[in-house]
Amino acid sequence: MAETTLLDELAQMVGSAREAAWILEQIEDPEVARSIAHRRAMGQPLQYLLGSWPFRTIELTVDDRALIPRPETEQVVEQALAAWRRTRPGLEALVIADLGTGTGAIGLSLGVELSAEASIERILLVDLSPAALELAGENARLLGVEVELHCGSWHEGVPSERLGGIHLLVSNPPYVAVADEPMLGVELAYEPRMALFAADADDATPGFADVASVIDGALDSLAPGGIVVVEMAEHQVPVALERSRSSGLVDLEAFDDLAGHPRGIVGRAP
Ligand SMILES: C[S@@+](CC[C@H](N)C(=O)[O-])C[C@H]1O[C@@H](n2cnc3c(N)ncnc32)[C@H](O)[C@@H]1O
Repeated sequence: MAETTLLDELAQMVGSAREAAWILEQIEDPEVARSIAHRRAMGQPLQYLLGSWPFRTIELTVDDRALIPRPETEQVVEQALAAWRRTRPGLEALVIADLGTGTGAIGLSLGVELSAEASIERILLVDLSPAALELAGENARLLGVEVELHCGSWHEGVPSERLGGIHLLVSNPPYVAVADEPMLGVELAYEPRMALFAADADDATPGFADVASVIDGALDSLAPGGIVVVEMAEHQVPVALERSRSSGLVDLEAFDDLAGHPRGIVGRAP
C-alpha cells in the first residue's frame, strides 16, 4: 500500500506513471527516489539520473559523458546483423568498427550478439570525445567485451594497419542541423553538444557534414565485401544513398526506423 502511495507521489512529480515506476524499479530508498523524481521534474533526463539504461540485450552505464542511446539506434544493430548474415564477411576473424561510439552501444551490442556466430578478432570503438571513449571502455569492461579504444575523427581514428580490413563498419554520427537547435527540447541540453549537432555538408544538406565524412571514408576503411551501416536524419537519406553510390559503395539500401521513417543506409564495399 505504501509503495502505491509513493508511486502516485512520484508520478505526480514527474508527470508520468511509467517513469515513476521505472524509478521505483531501480531505487529502493524513498528519499533517493524522491530526489531523482525532483531532478527529473526539473528536466534532467531519466537515463542519466538512473545511471544505466537497456539497449537491445545489454545494459549500459549512461552519464553526461555521452549521448543516451536512442531506441531507433537499435535498428542500426538490427540492420548490421541482417546485412552481415547475408554474406558473412570476416567470419573467421571479424573486425568491427563503431565510429562515434558514445557509450559503445552499437559496437558492444554487435560484439555480444555476434559472438555466437563469428570469431571476432577485434572491435574498434572510435570517438573524438575522450570522455565518451572512457565511458565506452567502462561499459566494455562491465560487459566483458574486449575492445580497442581509439580517439580520433571518424576514419582518422581507425589505426592505419586496420584500414581496408574492416568487415562491419557502423556509425550513428551527429546529424541534427545547428540551425534546428532552438526548436529542440530542453532535455537535449544535458547531452554533449558534439554528440548531437553537425555542420551542414559541402553540398549544403543541413546537419550532414559528419554523415558525409563517414560515407566518404568508408571504402578506404572497409575490407572487400565489408558492410557499412549509418544512421541519419530522414532528409539526409536520399543524399546519402547518392553520395555512397558515387563513392563506389554497392548494394545500397535505405532502412526505416520503428515509426516507419527513413533512418539510415546500408551498403557494401565491392
Ligand atoms: C549521435 S552520438 C552516437 C553515440 C552512440 N554511437 C549511440 O548511437 O548512442 C555521436 C557520437 O559521435 C561522436 N563524434 C562527434 N564528432 C566526431 C568526430 N569528428 N569523430 C568521431 N566521433 C565524433 C560524439 O562524441 C558522439 O559520441
